[in-house]
Amino acid sequence: DWTSAGFVERAVAAVRAEVGEERRVLCALSGGVDSTVAAVLVHRAIGDRLTCIFVDHGLLRKDEGDQVMDTLTREFDLNVIRVNARELFLGKLAGVTEPEAKRKVIGEEFIRVFDAEAAKLGKMDYLLQGTIYPDVIESGAGDAAVIKSHHNVGGLPEDVQFKLLEPLRLLFKDEVRSAGRELGLPEHIVNRQPFPGPGLAIRCLGEVTEEKLAIVRESDAILREEIARAKLDRAIWQYFTVLPNIRSVGVMGDSRTYSHAVAIRAVTSVDGMTSDWARIPYEVLEKISSRIVNEVPGVNRVVYDVTTKPPATIEWE
Ligand code: XMP
Repeated sequence: DWTSAGFVERAVAAVRAEVGEERRVLCALSGGVDSTVAAVLVHRAIGDRLTCIFVDHGLLRKDEGDQVMDTLTREFDLNVIRVNARELFLGKLAGVTEPEAKRKVIGEEFIRVFDAEAAKLGKMDYLLQGTIYPDVIESGAGDAAVIKSHHNVGGLPEDVQFKLLEPLRLLFKDEVRSAGRELGLPEHIVNRQPFPGPGLAIRCLGEVTEEKLAIVRESDAILREEIARAKLDRAIWQYFTVLPNIRSVGVMGDSRTYSHAVAIRAVTSVDGMTSDWARIPYEVLEKISSRIVNEVPGVNRVVYDVTTKPPATIEWE
């Protein structure tokens, strides 16, 4: 039977055995549950031979970069380097509209940025990633069909110097959370809702632009605030806004508007493999909707996604 204590003990021993007494590990840290648990676990195994790199790709939620750095450097004894790669990522994404192409561009840039940082740090032997089991199966490992290429699966380009270390590769999300608690991580980290590696780029359908990112970021911040205020943040597994890249006609004061629609996606799930849409009370939806149209420039309509997974996926791209 799986227990978090047993898992942590075995995983720490396995990492020590694999990495040995001298080799060094570079960690791809996003600040999400998966990579944070992976980092703390490997830190326990090999201490300061772990260096973490937090890539701020400009596709994070509002204030997320600062919060992540603050938490990891103050609450954990982790060595974290923050790389500001916003312009690099947005430049590479310019003109790219196809969902899989966007994911590929982001995945490749992630690896390049790590490689560049690794070069500055001297020899690194492993790249640690917080890949979990649903990422592995949904990216088509084994016989499963490719549904989406998750950014952190699929091996490395040939010219990079490190091997992959993925200690959470066989865990489901709820098991990662238990392992995190076992490692002593605080609840606000352990209960953090999942956030995809490609970030807000896959919530801006079609081409990613600063203007569209701003709409997603601001509307998402409002949604999160209202869900927390309604004390629904523990009951709903994941909730975010999406910019479907459609404009529709509205009326503001005496004039016609032709502006963006924002979709709310909120789901209940155990492990992200299947999900149901969350039954958010109408009064809460009403508040979220009126705040988004009033506070986010360029938005005149809010819709609610009432689709289960399958047949939809949780993210829209
Ligand atoms: P889907 O959209 O496939 O998402 O139903 C299932 C869960 O996985 C998250 N997700 C990702 N996580 N890298 C990640 O680390 C990714 O590329 C990625 N794509 C989706 C998604 O947010 C949901 O929780």
